[in-house]
Amino acid sequence: PVFDTLLLTGAAGTLGRALAPSLRALCRTLRLSDLPAALAAPPLQPGDEARPADLADASAMDALLHGVQAVVHLGGVSVEGPFAPILAANLAGTTHLYEAARRAGTRRIVFASSNHVTGGYPQGHSLTTACPPRPDGFYGASKLYGEGLAALYWQRYGIESVCLRIGSATPEPTDARALATWLSLRDLAQLVRCALTAPGVGCTVAYGCSANTRRWWQDDATWARLGYAPQDNAEAWAAQLQDRLLPEGPQRELQGGSFLGIGPFDP
Ligand code: NAI
Repeated sequence: PVFDTLLLTGAAGTLGRALAPSLRALCRTLRLSDLPAALAAPPLQPGDEARPADLADASAMDALLHGVQAVVHLGGVSVEGPFAPILAANLAGTTHLYEAARRAGTRRIVFASSNHVTGGYPQGHSLTTACPPRPDGFYGASKLYGEGLAALYWQRYGIESVCLRIGSATPEPTDARALATWLSLRDLAQLVRCALTAPGVGCTVAYGCSANTRRWWQDDATWARLGYAPQDNAEAWAAQLQDRLLPEGPQRELQGGSFLGIGPFDP
């Protein structure tokens, strides 16, 4: 195994469950963490540890990171919504995680960022990670903050990060937008493996999608540096999905899709 102990936050979530099997192959111990209620009946395999914790609780983080060489950080609010829960889980939570990682001597963090960091660009507009951010809501802005933390902890403390701006990670693409944004679950597993094991990543930001014919994110140089070679292409679903459009307006026009239809939130 590459790692002795690997921590997976958000382990009870959709992607946590999908990724756990491929992560077990990389470590002796996979430490699964999520909110206590979510982790009530964890799907444990031999070698796993279950460590319920609220990322918003700074005092729980040192025990969570103790002995951890690398983290796959998926935990947090995963959709657009009001600010308070995003503040607690994504802004404070990710800060607490990085601080504890610094104290624990953790070497690398793979951070689940999001395409919503640039969700305000028009659909069809080609992007690389060199383009200025254009978050489409509190959620996207919170992921941009996480990318900022990743840069900070690399620059000051030498903790490596790969921030993955995940597109639409689902078993199959589900609508016309996903013909561009889909990330198959096997490509997700490969991308996370590359992000954990590629040498000398420093602080790298990469979009995460499959080899979709219609993809907007042209991140090939970063993908090559990570060793990521996607195997799937949403185009196989084009005939059945290209007319499955979101409502007219920003949701249909901008890359963030349905999240543009959520909010604003008044106090
Ligand atoms: P999910 O919502 O299914 O899983 C997130 C997990 O985080 C949940 O199990 C939840 O209980 C946990 N969590 C929430 N607040 C927490 C807190 N305060 N402390 C500890 N755990 C907490 O989301 P999913 O789809 O599995 O996504 C995983 C990550 O990837 C998220 O960070 C999400 O923002 C990101 N992402 C996912 C995409 C997708 O296509 N599924 C696209 C872009 C980003």
